[in-house]
Amino acid sequence: MSEKISLQLKVNGRDYTVRVAPNARLLDVLRDELMLTGTKEGCGIGECGACTVIMDGQAVNSCLVLAAAAEGKEIITIEGLEQDGRLHPLQEAFIKHNALQCGFCTPGMIMSAKALLDKNPHPTRAAIRAAIAGNLCRCTGYEQIVAAIEDAATHMAGRE
Ligand code: FES
Ligand code: FES
Repeated sequence: MSEKISLQLKVNGRDYTVRVAPNARLLDVLRDELMLTGTKEGCGIGECGACTVIMDGQAVNSCLVLAAAAEGKEIITIEGLEQDGRLHPLQEAFIKHNALQCGFCTPGMIMSAKALLDKNPHPTRAAIRAAIAGNLCRCTGYEQIVAAIEDAATHMAGRE
């Protein structure tokens, strides 16, 4: 068995030190070491997007990222979105538009949407669809999800 390695990770603005196997995935470290279980595992092979987090501004599948590769990067998970007990506008919009049913895809979907809106605050419907193309939802049919992201973008633009 390989020796564990020590890593410094910055997640949701907080610094953590963890000792993990060299081949530990970021997904497992988030869920099992940091107890940030909002990030979900669906396929484990980069196909479903349930494990999406933001790393240095990019939406990434955390099942495909070695934890060691996340050292020195800024990681944001779904738990990092609420501020002072208030849901993020994307979270509020998903509730308002009934954009979730079982909810398993939702954290990943919202993280992909956040990465989009951080770069492009006024996306077209096509840009929204492209941004969530790697996030599979077996429940909703996607229409409500696209509407929620559009609504959140409008709401956030109104705050600027
Ligand atoms: S669990 Fe990572 S893409 Fe499906
Ligand atoms: S709400 Fe169930 S998979 Fe999307």
